[in-house]
Amino acid sequence: MTRSYPYARPYRRPGPCPDLCGFCQCEGLPGSAETASQKPRRSREGPWPIKRRGAADVFGVDISGEMAAVAQALEERNPLGVRYGVGDVGELRPLGQHFDVAVAVQLLNYAQDVAAFEQMCRNVHRNLAPGAEFFVLNQAPDYRFDGPSPDKYGFRSELTGEETETGPRVRITALLDQHPIEFVTTCPRREVYEKCLRAAGFSEVAWVPVEVSDAGVRTFGADFRADFLATPPLEMLGCRA
Ligand SMILES: C[S@@+](CC[C@H](N)C(=O)[O-])C[C@H]1O[C@@H](n2cnc3c(N)ncnc32)[C@H](O)[C@@H]1O
Repeated sequence: MTRSYPYARPYRRPGPCPDLCGFCQCEGLPGSAETASQKPRRSREGPWPIKRRGAADVFGVDISGEMAAVAQALEERNPLGVRYGVGDVGELRPLGQHFDVAVAVQLLNYAQDVAAFEQMCRNVHRNLAPGAEFFVLNQAPDYRFDGPSPDKYGFRSELTGEETETGPRVRITALLDQHPIEFVTTCPRREVYEKCLRAAGFSEVAWVPVEVSDAGVRTFGADFRADFLATPPLEMLGCRA
């Protein structure tokens, strides 16, 4: 099932930050699983700028102390009141409150196998209020690796040839001007998301195609994102606790 959401527009700033993992930082929300305790005018408008849109409490967690430190530095430079913590979402304990929205950007692809994938989903679920929404953004499960090169968007994505229980291994290169960053991760299969999220207690699992924002079209022209739209590298998924 596919439904279209106005919030599926993460590509607002194709500037110095590579689209792959930069947009969240551009928005000041670099955590891998982020939760808000009050709906930001309902999440239809977008989970990323959650705090700026009026969430009472936003908490971001990342397994990397460096990532959390970057987030904290951004918070100190431009205080929004977002809290950050270092932790493994695969071992996330109850956070002491039930949040209304959770967002995981490029997180579930780090699960080593299906059991770990499901465990991450369960750990998010147990920190959500009934009916809360969980949004996941990851590489599109049907991404065509033999399609047009996404280099112009600031990243490259190649199959390594290895298969894991959750999907093929993928080498991602963020094409930063001075220092390209390369890492290997997984591109989980569509049914892995759907099965694990349902097993963790989520319902209304729906895939959300990403769109190019009007501002993006105005700035870069419609042609610039034509390959992106023809071969979407990312896809969002929404579901409900
Ligand atoms: C590609 S980056 C995306 C970062 C950020 N969410 C963004 O969009 O800018 C993936 C992040 O997931 C984090 N990560 C990987 N495994 C994790 C885990 N088990 N729990 C929490 N964070 C994890 C990494 O440390 C890394 O910062």
